[in-house]
Amino acid sequence: MELKTRIAGIELKNPLMPASGPLVGSYEKMMAIEKFGVGCMVGKTISIKGAEVPRPCIISNGNSIMNAELWSEYPLQYWLTGILPALRRDLSIPLILSVGYTKEDMETLIPALEGFCDGFEVSTHYVGKDLGVIGETVRTITSLTDKPVFMKISPHIPNPVAFAKTVKENGAKGIVAINSLGPTMKIDAANRRVLAGNESGELWTSGPAIKPIALAIVNKIKTALPDFTVIGAGGVENAEDVVEFLLAGADAVQMLSAAMLKGKDLYERIINILPEVLAKLNFSCVKEVIDTPLQKGAVKYQPSNPAIDMEKCTLCGLCERVCPYFALSVTDKVEVDTGRCFGCGLCQSRCPVKAISGVL
Ligand SMILES: Cc1cc2nc3c(=O)[nH]c(=O)nc-3n(C[C@H](O)[C@H](O)[C@H](O)COP(=O)(O)O)c2cc1C
Ligand code: SF4
Ligand code: SF4
Repeated sequence: MELKTRIAGIELKNPLMPASGPLVGSYEKMMAIEKFGVGCMVGKTISIKGAEVPRPCIISNGNSIMNAELWSEYPLQYWLTGILPALRRDLSIPLILSVGYTKEDMETLIPALEGFCDGFEVSTHYVGKDLGVIGETVRTITSLTDKPVFMKISPHIPNPVAFAKTVKENGAKGIVAINSLGPTMKIDAANRRVLAGNESGELWTSGPAIKPIALAIVNKIKTALPDFTVIGAGGVENAEDVVEFLLAGADAVQMLSAAMLKGKDLYERIINILPEVLAKLNFSCVKEVIDTPLQKGAVKYQPSNPAIDMEKCTLCGLCERVCPYFALSVTDKVEVDTGRCFGCGLCQSRCPVKAISGVL
């Protein structure tokens, strides 16, 4: 099965790559992640000075990661001497270097790093929401390099389409959507304290919990700018998620948190099973998924009532307990009060054995 895709003219052997973070913060780490078969490499965000990172800085919180990491703990100078020459020599997949943050930082970073990569990803995480500042930063970067520049959007940016239009007008070739969500907080009640975080007790959340936000932002941007490259990131944890991001409008997909929660070899497991998942969904290649329009907007305002498959139903009673309109009763069968049923869909999405149909 053909898994190839393109991001702003760069061909990738498959659409999965790591997202910027601790798994790609050194030569050894990036070489190890490449071995899992990813289509592209993305580095930890490089700035001029190394970051002073509060510890602890990474915790698992159910199906999400919460982190207080900043950019790379290594300064630009160490990347230039201790990491990138060897990486450029040994890495056999395209390399996107992540850089941050200000226009003035870019004037030093971009010329210094240009020779070592195939493109830049620019973190706007600490740059604020002012599109004037972001536009000027993109203009500075694109005046310093011919390599494609992908601007990374944070979920706190109020208007993702305006962000995408601004960066496109100023020469960016694509968007990475999204960075982690925050600020968020983790409380250790027994000890009356926050479990980890910065001076304000804040962390940033990523992983499966933020996937619905990421999908919506990817789709908003792709709908407004169909020819602009979008790289999806946020909550990918399996091959089905990769397909969902491609359908939403992504041309390629990044993953970090799930690989930290489930093991770094998750990249390999997803890439290996992707052909099978595509075939099961009747796709013949990755490009076909990307070219398939996502159906939406067929909204109706009359309810459809649930149909219960009693062959499958285990009479567990969950649908009765959760129905917000008190329309179900479970005895030795499941009865629907069609006068009360609002057609909301919750029962169908909640039934553990998929015995309910007809609403969604
Ligand atoms: C521990 C950690 C460190 C991160 N460091 C960076 C970073 O240096 N630069 C950046 O642009 N994004 C960084 N991110 C955000 C990720 O690249 C990614 O956008 C986000 O986690 C959503 O993807 P995921 O849900 O697959 O993790 C970091 C995320 C985590 C969890
Ligand atoms: S939730 Fe599903 S299995 Fe449980 S009683 Fe309702 S229909 Fe039956
Ligand atoms: S569709 Fe909504 S209102 Fe109707 S039975 Fe199911 S949960 Fe209740």
